[in-house]
Amino acid sequence: MRKLRLEDIKEIKIERKVFDERTLFAIYKLITKGAIKSVESLVKEGKESLIFSAKDKQENWLALKIYRTLHCDFKSMWKYLIVDPRFSSIKKGRRSVVYNWCKREFKNLKIAFGVGVSCPLPIAFYENILVMKFIGKNGTPAPRLIDMSLRRGEAEYVYKFVLEEMKKLLEARLIHTDLSPYNILIWDKPYLIDFSQAVTLEHPFAKEFFSRDVKNINSFFKKFEVKIKELKIE
Ligand SMILES: Nc1ncnc2c1ncn2[C@@H]1O[C@H](COP(=O)(O)OP(=O)(O)OP(=O)(O)O)[C@@H](O)[C@H]1O
Ligand SMILES: [Mg+2]
Repeated sequence: MRKLRLEDIKEIKIERKVFDERTLFAIYKLITKGAIKSVESLVKEGKESLIFSAKDKQENWLALKIYRTLHCDFKSMWKYLIVDPRFSSIKKGRRSVVYNWCKREFKNLKIAFGVGVSCPLPIAFYENILVMKFIGKNGTPAPRLIDMSLRRGEAEYVYKFVLEEMKKLLEARLIHTDLSPYNILIWDKPYLIDFSQAVTLEHPFAKEFFSRDVKNINSFFKKFEVKIKELKIE
């Protein structure tokens, strides 16, 4: 018998009313596809998604990002999606929107990882579930940058690192659009996470989004008195 603790998932479902039958089925599907072997525990509960730790057949730790399908503002999500030229023709229904939101995060992570950006390796997605490599140890996630107390030298290292990742993303024609110390995990090195809303340079607001990312990152690092750079799209 596989190690999936479906009972646990069902309990979470009943307690928190987050999973519908389709999501449970999607977990089964990911197991039969061989992407995951077991679901371990709930790591974080966000507004739009739940993050679970999981394992693959080789006992490697994985992160499952399960987008809520029942309690989500899919109308706003739809508005954000259809201005992305890659998703301009999606249907407006709740499921279609959430699945495409998940698909976009997978696609974005693939682009980012493909050009060597430090981000979780995307492994698979199915409907509203994204499977990626776990950043942290034994199911405990790495701390976010916002939760760290950094010395000036450390801040300088992280800042330079993040700027390099932003440049790599630009070269791949991708803009994160929600880059902040909340979406950077610090482990053996900094990792950029949460790419669901990232857009390509073709997006009509690409420049504005990029300036906002730069502003958010710079205003965090200014506090550490590191030398600030104003990255711009040429
Ligand atoms: N690959 C991963 N490995 C380990 N932990 C992760 C991973 N991805 C996400 N997490 C954990 O889950 C949290 C939320 O992830 P993420 O930012 O992608 O989702 P979100 O929907 O934006 O959630 P929130 O509403 O909290 O911002 C992260 O801060 C981190 O603690
Ligand atoms: Mg986030």
